[in-house]
Amino acid sequence: MRAGREPAQGVDERRLWQRHEAMARFGATARGGVNRQALSAEDIAARRTLADWAAARGYRTCLDEIGNLYVRRPGTDDTAAPVLTGSHLDSQPTGGRFDGTYGVLAGFEVLEALEDTGTRTRRAIEVVAWTNEEGSRFQPGTMGSAVFAGDKKLADMVEVRDSKGTRLGDALAETLAAMPDADRRKSGFPVAAYIEAHIEQGPRLALEDKTIGVVTGIQGSRWFEIVVTGEEAHAGTTPLGARKDAFRSALAMAQALQELMHDPADILRFTIGRFEVMPGSPNTVPGRVLFTIDFRHPDREVLRERGGRIAAICKAAAGPCQVSIRETTSNDPTHFDPAVVDLVRQSAAHLGLPHMDIFSGAGHDARYMAPLCPTGMIFVPCEKGISHNEAENATPGDLAAGARVLADVLVRLANR
Ligand code: GLV
Ligand code: MN
Ligand code: MN
Repeated sequence: MRAGREPAQGVDERRLWQRHEAMARFGATARGGVNRQALSAEDIAARRTLADWAAARGYRTCLDEIGNLYVRRPGTDDTAAPVLTGSHLDSQPTGGRFDGTYGVLAGFEVLEALEDTGTRTRRAIEVVAWTNEEGSRFQPGTMGSAVFAGDKKLADMVEVRDSKGTRLGDALAETLAAMPDADRRKSGFPVAAYIEAHIEQGPRLALEDKTIGVVTGIQGSRWFEIVVTGEEAHAGTTPLGARKDAFRSALAMAQALQELMHDPADILRFTIGRFEVMPGSPNTVPGRVLFTIDFRHPDREVLRERGGRIAAICKAAAGPCQVSIRETTSNDPTHFDPAVVDLVRQSAAHLGLPHMDIFSGAGHDARYMAPLCPTGMIFVPCEKGISHNEAENATPGDLAAGARVLADVLVRLANR
């Protein structure tokens, strides 16, 4: 532990990789990924481990009312607002080992690098693990950061239920109870700046042979939940013309929506990721279908215009069934603070790392921080751009490179 080095030089590639391997055990799947959905036993175990690592370094750990977990490395001026970095520890049901986890572990690696290089900062630096970024178990996603920003109310979020009927408030109470040693704190406190490291989750950095993505913003998104209600009936006896088949109507809607969302330029993103047919019996005509829509675009006007036609298209395709359409979340495109973006660019250049500007296709908690304080993101490549997949992978060297940029940027922000 030699003091006097630049903070970025304190980043330890091996230690960072080993921490990823350790975290990957919580919710490990047979195919090498993770299933660590928000507020599950696996998520609790991952949080506990981060808190244990923090305690071993003498850092204070706090939890707020939505379960966002903070690890604080004090600055020399305790009255100054902290600089925040982090991401999420929850995963998709068939998720990878790096989505979210990398941002939390890179942040923690920077804290350790600052210790090892004897670096003090004026502001405290805090690493945050936001609650329920993914939104696969409880919708909507980016919930912890949305509550932090005051964009969503805790009282509404605790009533959300997962597909098994578990109330988020109950799962949250278990998570909070599992960490009695963490201090409690109210979300929404002043933050001087926010910077999040993440794998790219797409192929562009790898294709262009760049190590660092200087993220300039995040495309906008709208999520919907569609419920089609028909009538259950005997599959052997009920004539087709007399049926109220919820599946048939939902299929017609899905096809009409695919046409609405057709984009020859292939910029628009449209996904029906959940399609539940009930009661799910081979010989009962489905009485109810629930499906979800994830619609994204960098242009706010396209989101408004196409998204605004979803309800009418579903109603027109409903046939003899009823349909209800609920928008579960909506986000305008985000543009990060030009000064923070420039800091990332300068740090990558200073460290001699090949870099390029990039606009994020995936959503991130940084979206909710951007209106609150100067915000930016750092991307590193992931293998073949694969993400939301158990095969998600990244190299130890690229992960460490991103953490070095993060260290450099964090120190600059924390000394402002
Ligand atoms: C987050 O994982 C997203 O859906 O973009
Ligand atoms: Mn993520
Ligand atoms: Mn994700």
